[in-house]
Amino acid sequence: MQGSANLNLMIKAARKAGRSLVKDFREVENLQVSVKGAGDFVSRADTAAENIIREELMGARPTYGWLGEETGEADGADPTRRWIVDPLDGTTNFLHGLPHWSVSIALEHKGEVVAGVVFDPAKDELFWAEKGAGAWMNESRVRVSGRRNLAEAVLATGVPFGTKKTLPATMRDLARLMPATAGVRRFGSAALDLAYVAAGRFDAYWEREINAWDMAAGLVIVREAGGFAEAVREGRDIFESGTVLAANAELFAPIAKILRQPE
Ligand code: IPD
Ligand code: CA
Ligand code: CA
Repeated sequence: MQGSANLNLMIKAARKAGRSLVKDFREVENLQVSVKGAGDFVSRADTAAENIIREELMGARPTYGWLGEETGEADGADPTRRWIVDPLDGTTNFLHGLPHWSVSIALEHKGEVVAGVVFDPAKDELFWAEKGAGAWMNESRVRVSGRRNLAEAVLATGVPFGTKKTLPATMRDLARLMPATAGVRRFGSAALDLAYVAAGRFDAYWEREINAWDMAAGLVIVREAGGFAEAVREGRDIFESGTVLAANAELFAPIAKILRQPE
């Protein structure tokens, strides 16, 4: 499958950042004795990865806008296009030596994500999609699962930590969904959660307090794989609401109904 010039650029940037992160990931285990040391090291690894991606993408497309978790927002001369980047999604996993984290790069055009790359260097799995060209994992086409029965579905989510305010709502979601499904997973990388919905590994994924850079690339991958992705609250803009529900076409409505029930 041949991607566009922009997609190839995104893949090149994701692989380059991935190489740098893999090197740093090997170091992280040695630093566990000092929690602060490991924390500082990881935030440097994170910023270094974003700088690599920024150099690659903005070097080749200097007129595009930019939104990166570590370096913030910058308008471009071309107001219709912007890169949305999370250089390391799954920081807590990375810090703890858990090999489940990713590089996430999206291209937005006129407010819509038109291309996305989510790269998991530890497993060498590169998920990607471009609007109209399907969703892929490495060389293979991926599709959302065909499961129709909620009782057989495996769902992923992100649970709040630290000062996040959505703990009560998330606990309500879990109380409603855990007994109704085959299980709920919390793997710790939203970008991979979405990619796994696209690949049919998870039947659905939802999260209530999430940023554009966590999900932008994953959204187009899910949609191109035949899935649906919307804000948890009906009719809201996904990025503005900071919430997302992604699922295969059959399970989207029943799960949305549960999540959208009043308290
Ligand atoms: C986090 C991960 C996690 C999700 C959090 C995100 P980070 O991103 O995607 O799975 O539950 O909401 O903030 O901080 O590792 O880039
Ligand atoms: Ca993230
Ligand atoms: Ca991050």
